[in-house]
Amino acid sequence: MKIAVLKERRPNETRVAASPETVGKMVAMGLDVVVESGAGEGSSFSNEAYEKAGASIGKDAKAAMAGADVVIKIQRPMVAGESQDEMANFAKDQGLVCLMNALTEPKYVGAMAAAGVTGFALELIPRITRAQSMDVLSSQSNLAGYRAVIDGATEFGRAFPMMMTAAGTVPPARVLVMGAGVAGLQAIATARRLGAVVSATDVRPAAKEQVESLGGSFVAVEDEEFKQAETAGGYAKEMSAEYQKKQAALIAETIKKQDMVITTALIPGRPAPKLVSADMVKTMKPGAVIVDLAVEQGGNCELSEYNSVVKKHGVKIVGHANVPGRLAESASNLFARNILSFMSLLVDDDTKSMKIDLEDEIIAGTLVTRDGKVVHPDVKAEEPRPAKKAGGGAKKGAASTKKSSAKTKAKKE
Ligand code: NAI
Repeated sequence: MKIAVLKERRPNETRVAASPETVGKMVAMGLDVVVESGAGEGSSFSNEAYEKAGASIGKDAKAAMAGADVVIKIQRPMVAGESQDEMANFAKDQGLVCLMNALTEPKYVGAMAAAGVTGFALELIPRITRAQSMDVLSSQSNLAGYRAVIDGATEFGRAFPMMMTAAGTVPPARVLVMGAGVAGLQAIATARRLGAVVSATDVRPAAKEQVESLGGSFVAVEDEEFKQAETAGGYAKEMSAEYQKKQAALIAETIKKQDMVITTALIPGRPAPKLVSADMVKTMKPGAVIVDLAVEQGGNCELSEYNSVVKKHGVKIVGHANVPGRLAESASNLFARNILSFMSLLVDDDTKSMKIDLEDEIIAGTLVTRDGKVVHPDVKAEEPRPAKKAGGGAKKGAASTKKSSAKTKAKKE
């Protein structure tokens, strides 16, 4: 079974889906690994390090993917009409494991189905104990939460810890973290380590104890709706307009006193909730900083701008794109281990070929496209049109359960 590791081509994407460490482990599992030349550059992994771990190097994406059973990536391949057409290199029935934003960008899932790709969306990995080692959302959010505090501190013209000096006392910074999930909890811990006085808010009741155990104080409207706000999967529900109004009033009071606000609030498959309005920003202290980690999903702050640091009403608003990518080496190391763990479910130990076991809830929960169709019940893609050019390499030994069709295969070359 052959695995291809591709170089990411999107702006701001510095990560890579395999590290020399995980390549070594895949090779030890009996897999052939081909890494596209330069794929690890943004994460400080050289071609030589991958070769030393047992991979071969493909001179470009097409060469790396030729004959591969599974392609692993960080982000979904771009399609015709975007800045490059990465999808054109895929062969029918070729496996693809990456982040796909399948719930929020279903049209691209349709394009994947049209290309005949067998696609697994990593963001759909169910949050069950067995899948924790595969949970890319957690591994990347954790790093993003840390980095948000560091990015905020860099923009902040005051100190974090209280300092008693001969020239007088420097007061500690007050930091409010909005959304106390994986990223938020790491932001709380990091801001506390730097010496800030930290408070946090969330709509899930479970968050209260977690915030307090990290030394933060919890700020929330704790009504009946709040008590029901967590889904069985551990995520937040979208709150009613009435709750949002009460929450906004409480936040408006709290935010005035803050030096820094770090927002991380998300609801899966929905735009990020708008929690910090322009009017709230106006009430903040001059020199305060907002770091909006939700900016890729539309932002938690009304005034944040994607991939920019802007100053509005005397407040700096930080909206960096791809925050985990700002710690590329750490982020790639963790992402690569998550993928390695997921790959172990796709390999038949006896035959060393790809298997798709739909009895496994992790496989069933992540499989979005197969045999030219969108197969995930939660992904509402338009019925894909037949692929025009779905080829791109001699493909062998794909999914053991696939209906292989030599006729429709690789017209491209
Ligand atoms: P997320 O990235 O989807 O959302 C971030 C946070 O924003 C969440 O805590 C959410 O409750 C909060 N939020 C949403 N709307 C909000 C609003 N209007 N106001 C304030 N906060 C709001 O969530 P994340 O961080 O991926 O995970 C959430 C929880 O899932 C974790 O805290 C944990 O309990 C659970 N989890 C379970 C795992 C497992 O069992 N394998 C793995 C990772 C997380």
